[in-house]
Amino acid sequence: MTHTITVIRGDGIGPEIMDATLLVLEAMNLGLVYEEADAGLVALEKHGELLPQATIDSIGKNRVALKSPLTTPVGGGFSSINVELRRRFDLYANVRPATSFPNTRSRFAEGVDLITVRENTEGAYSAEGQETAADGSSATSITRTTRKGSERIVRYAFELARRTGRKKVTVVHKANILKSTSGLFLNVAREVAAQYPDIECNEMIVDNTCMQLVMRPEQFDVIVTTNLFGDIISDLCAGLVGGLGLAPGANIGADAAIFEAVHGSAPDIAGKGIANPCALLLGAAQMLDHLGMPDKATRLREAIVATLAARDSLTPDLGGEGNTMAFAKAIASRAA
Ligand code: NAI
Ligand code: MG
Repeated sequence: MTHTITVIRGDGIGPEIMDATLLVLEAMNLGLVYEEADAGLVALEKHGELLPQATIDSIGKNRVALKSPLTTPVGGGFSSINVELRRRFDLYANVRPATSFPNTRSRFAEGVDLITVRENTEGAYSAEGQETAADGSSATSITRTTRKGSERIVRYAFELARRTGRKKVTVVHKANILKSTSGLFLNVAREVAAQYPDIECNEMIVDNTCMQLVMRPEQFDVIVTTNLFGDIISDLCAGLVGGLGLAPGANIGADAAIFEAVHGSAPDIAGKGIANPCALLLGAAQMLDHLGMPDKATRLREAIVATLAARDSLTPDLGGEGNTMAFAKAIASRAA
């Protein structure tokens, strides 16, 4: 079966890391078809809008997109395109793996291999009830947690664990203080966990989780949590293993999935050809898993690890003297 992928080249270093990623994917002979669509500043210049209808239609039709970072213009009433895409396609699961890689400037050169599954649509980021008193003396917003939203994200985490041979899911919460919202999430998580006797489930309060992650990250396998906690924890995990250049993320819903790098468009190095393509490549590996090609995904990840281990053509952020394309070719030669 041939899959068509919507490819969004994005802004800043976006086109450079997308060229590098497509070069590697082409070398792997996956039989994928790529359909280009614009979003971000480049779309604003070409079509007068940041997120053209044609791009939304392309993602809706193909159901899978590989996306480079986008620059959201400051001011002018633009809201984040990424948030808009999440809402539009109800991409409820934000899935962010963090894995130790060789030759990176990280605290943990080995032992970290975890995935954060973050609820992506509700909780503290539901954007409901935002109110600031006229005199600025107080402000409120609503945290809304639903049974449906909690159930589908926890189920996603357990299914992911089962599918990928992972052994444990840690439910991260603050139900001791946030008794209603976090309490509901925890109760639903317990109900779902009972349906997966083959997967170990433990519970951890979010503040302790942060300390545990820094001190003993190897104890974690899959983490599932609500929107705000997941946002913070997943960045912490990216930091544990060497930061932005190696952190991919997927936004997954029932009808569409968008795979990307966690980092932004890096305007400071755009056009220089020195951006690290690994984060988007690792996003592409998540995409191959999603498309039912786990062997290819593993092959791609192993090629990245081997290239890092050999210090072959590494980009400057990894302490090398290579460039984006040379690095990509080095990975491609091992992935082909
Ligand atoms: P950034 O992630 O673009 O850059 C932060 C620092 O990390 C910079 O020094 C940059 O050079 C470096 N960096 C990032 N990716 C790199 C890579 N692949 N290789 C080597 N170095 C890399 O964050 P910043 O500067 O806060 O945001 C720039 C723009 O990106 C903004 O317009 C922001 O809105 C947008 N952005 C877009 C995202 C997306 O589309 N998913 C996510 C985050 C930010
Ligand atoms: Mg974040």
